Amino acid sequence: MSTLKVGIIGAGGIAVQHAMGWRDNGARAQMVAFADVTPERNQYLNQNYAGGKAKEYSDYHDLIADPNVDAVDICLPHHLHTDAIIAAAGAGKSILCEKPLCTSLADAARIDGALKETGVTFSTVNAWHFEVSGELGAIAGGRSKLAHQLHGWAEPAVLENAPIHSFTAEITHFLDVVQDGAECRAPFSQAARVLQLTMGAYAAVQKGVVIDLPENPVEPGVPSKGK
Ligand SMILES: NC(=O)c1ccc[n+]([C@@H]2O[C@H](COP(=O)([O-])OP(=O)(O)OC[C@H]3O[C@@H](n4cnc5c(N)ncnc54)[C@H](O)[C@@H]3O)[C@@H](O)[C@H]2O)c1
Repeated sequence: MSTLKVGIIGAGGIAVQHAMGWRDNGARAQMVAFADVTPERNQYLNQNYAGGKAKEYSDYHDLIADPNVDAVDICLPHHLHTDAIIAAAGAGKSILCEKPLCTSLADAARIDGALKETGVTFSTVNAWHFEVSGELGAIAGGRSKLAHQLHGWAEPAVLENAPIHSFTAEITHFLDVVQDGAECRAPFSQAARVLQLTMGAYAAVQKGVVIDLPENPVEPGVPSKGK
């Protein structure tokens, strides 16, 4: 199996945790590029987690255009996810993206279109994060119970296995999907559904009505008739 060459886009706070996850998966993947508008952040990750051998870009479009990059890991602020996903999909890169997917269902629909058109592999972080946490008690890397019951997440679980770093588990899963063709446990549809559900919940509270969620996760919730 060939090593997956990864470029991290956005080298801020959470990217440090991702870099640890990629490093822990070093037998299968290599960080070959970083892109951040702040050069010191690229340098920090490169020196500490990639042996100083990765390329550093200030414009993430240059990282996406780099033919040595197979996959991108998007750790940008929320409002920049959509454009980065669409650009990376257009370049045929496999994509792992931080939560939330994006900031509007209109943007989710744009992402949906780009992913369908290009057929690239796409996975988000948050859904798998909770699933892994539920199975392994990995939240905070220690003994934990999972309280989230939203959207079919796992039953509360008590740690029985040795704690693992959440992002190491999520990145291992991403590698299983990209390299071994495993089923993606955090696909676009689930990320969009979480966004749809969150926005529906806000609308329900603001308007004081029950909101029905359409089956298509990029369509907004609609106030329920007769309730
Ligand atoms: N899964 C989790 O547990 C978890 C935890 C924290 C954050 N997050 C998510 O990760 C994302 C990033 O959060 P963070 O806390 O790392 O933020 P951050 O501000 O620490 O990092 C974002 C980085 O993006 C860089 N950046 C901004 N605009 C850019 C651009 N146009 N081109 C290149 N780089 C640019 C910034 O310089 C910064 O280094 C957010 O969407 C957040 O929701 C997820």
